[in-house]
Amino acid sequence: MSTLSSHRPLLVIGGAGYIGSHTVRHLAEAGQPVVVLDNFSLGHRGAIVTPSVTVVAGELSDAELIESLFAEHHFDAVIHFAACSVVGESVAEPLKYYSNNVGAPLVVLEAMRRHRCQSFILSSTAATYGDPVTMPMDERHPQQPINPYGWSKFMLERILTDCQAAWGLRSVALRYFNAAGASEDGLIGEDHHPETHLIPRVLMAITGEIEKITVFGRDYPTPDGTCIRDYIHVLDLATAHAAALAHLRNEGGSLRCNLGTGRGCSVQEIISLAEAVTGKPVPLDYGPRRAGDPPSLVADPTLARTALGWQAAHPDPRFMIETAWRWLTGPQGGRYDRSARAA
Ligand code: UFG
Repeated sequence: MSTLSSHRPLLVIGGAGYIGSHTVRHLAEAGQPVVVLDNFSLGHRGAIVTPSVTVVAGELSDAELIESLFAEHHFDAVIHFAACSVVGESVAEPLKYYSNNVGAPLVVLEAMRRHRCQSFILSSTAATYGDPVTMPMDERHPQQPINPYGWSKFMLERILTDCQAAWGLRSVALRYFNAAGASEDGLIGEDHHPETHLIPRVLMAITGEIEKITVFGRDYPTPDGTCIRDYIHVLDLATAHAAALAHLRNEGGSLRCNLGTGRGCSVQEIISLAEAVTGKPVPLDYGPRRAGDPPSLVADPTLARTALGWQAAHPDPRFMIETAWRWLTGPQGGRYDRSARAA
């Protein structure tokens, strides 16, 4: 049986970010040779904890650099994480999103075509679906994004399909629902600046790092009036990328796959779980709805199970909160060393 170490090196773009770093660690610890390319604008040097990983600081849009990496390492596959992913920011700065999320990856795809590297795994998103029409959402759900972030990922998915028709690229686009949690040992985790996501903000309100959490709306048509999301542990996202890589290396065809648990959890439930896990109250208030938030977003994860043999091993949101809390209250206090980041 082939081991991952018997494979050619893998290029991971944006491998120092939240989901990228957990995936890189998972693959590298399994023996996969990995080269990470990251410009460290959002990623962190401290998030790469496996010594075997080669780290290259640089821009995805730097055609010369990309060409030299392909010439040196002869990658057989690319995993592409690097992207801007804040919905509100994408509405205010659409060109930034189209430039970073659609324009820049074209340089890599061009190099892949030249070097006959035919396997590409994309971080896509449930935001490509837009407002839900059916629930849970499977991959046949209409893709009608409602913000530039969702459109940018939708466009890249489309580009991958066109590259397949033109030169045989095979791709897996993994449509994440709500990524959450951290590594079990608390060594790596989520460090966004500013942090907008629910679970880290709830925990930051408990530690006092922020004054309180505002619950965006409690008049939604859900059992407790707050929004329901499908939270998926970042360690499960990592194993899904490994499954997608194995699929492509075994000559599997292109796929567009949801990554979720199939179970929804409300904002209020997350708050109650955070209080149970930490034994502390969450300082909060209730505010108006946030623009663009659908009441409920839950994945139908069947295709990932049947096509990739993957399913979430940690579907319990309590474990997501426990590991996020361990990261936030551990030796690093939920923050990578900023000076190392600038180095
Ligand atoms: N929320 C609050 N208060 C906060 C933060 C969030 O009430 O301070 C609520 C939101 O209104 C939403 C839920 O918590 O109902 C989850 O919000 P997040 O910001 O954590 O996540 P989103 O569902 O908005 O976004 C995630 C990803 C996006 C992706 C989107 C759609 O972060 O990249 O799912 O799939 F586009």
